[in-house]
Amino acid sequence: MTRHLLTLDSLGRDGILVNLELAIHLKSIKGMARDTLAGGRVGLIFDKPSTRTRVSFEAAAWGLGMLPITLRPDELQLGRGETIADTARVLSRYLTALVIRTFDQSRVEELARYATIPIINALTDDHHPCQALADVMTLQEEFGDTAGLRVAFIGDGNNVCHSLIQAAGHLGFTLAISTPDGFEPNAAIVEAARANCLVNGGAIEIGHDVRAAAADADAVYTDVWASMGQEKEREERARIFAGYCVTPELMALAKPRAIFLHCLPAHRGDEVLDEVIDGPQSRVWDEAENRWYTEQALLYVLITGEECWERMG
Ligand code: CP
Ligand code: NVA
Repeated sequence: MTRHLLTLDSLGRDGILVNLELAIHLKSIKGMARDTLAGGRVGLIFDKPSTRTRVSFEAAAWGLGMLPITLRPDELQLGRGETIADTARVLSRYLTALVIRTFDQSRVEELARYATIPIINALTDDHHPCQALADVMTLQEEFGDTAGLRVAFIGDGNNVCHSLIQAAGHLGFTLAISTPDGFEPNAAIVEAARANCLVNGGAIEIGHDVRAAAADADAVYTDVWASMGQEKEREERARIFAGYCVTPELMALAKPRAIFLHCLPAHRGDEVLDEVIDGPQSRVWDEAENRWYTEQALLYVLITGEECWERMG
């Protein structure tokens, strides 16, 4: 059966742990993967802008010996009415894996239904599983283990938050979410993660009080107030989210050795102040770097179907 990454739940606890272990190994050997997947071809479709995801996936594919092929959406026949199903069938004949960033989660799921190669969700309106892998890797590097941590998420309960919720459920950490009223995460995603927390530990807390979320946290995480595709709402959201900024005062409520995380890109002065993102507690550049390692690991595991990696490094 072809393995895909549609949401973080596609990997499950064991898949996430394998990805983490392999990514940390790859970082320790400086990402040298010795052309492990030589001859492979990775297609990349980005319906939304990207700096980190696109470059880290292209670099990851190249590092594993594969050819990254960026497919501009306006150059594909998809834009002229070819169906997702037919696109999936055809691209499966040329490619070894397909990475896609798009709007509706249903598009990624439809591709996966018809593709015979791994489909990797590089962000939709509802999920950002690749980001969550790098986030948990960064937590693991800092604290040695993610189980039992308390991570505060301040901001919009959408894609990045949803993938962190799934991570918390599988790895057993507490995600204390604080959003403005009406911007809470999807209830079904929360419920499923809470069921996983019953087995793995941790909890999903949801509220509106940023101070309560940040109190005693090991990490404070935030994301932009207006996501890609919501540009028209930017001014209105700036008003609604005004109290949801990570300031030095908010960081002071967290544990003394707490770290600050952000998926990036950051809108400095909105969801985070310069003093925090540029301060000693910030790990955002390591977090961005970790995308490269987690994506190499992900490509390797999804393409080979192997859960060990003797051939690497
Ligand atoms: N964090 C993240 O996905 O960044 P990009 O939008 O630049 O890919
Ligand atoms: N929530 C943000 C994440 C960017 C990586 C967005 O969707 O734009």
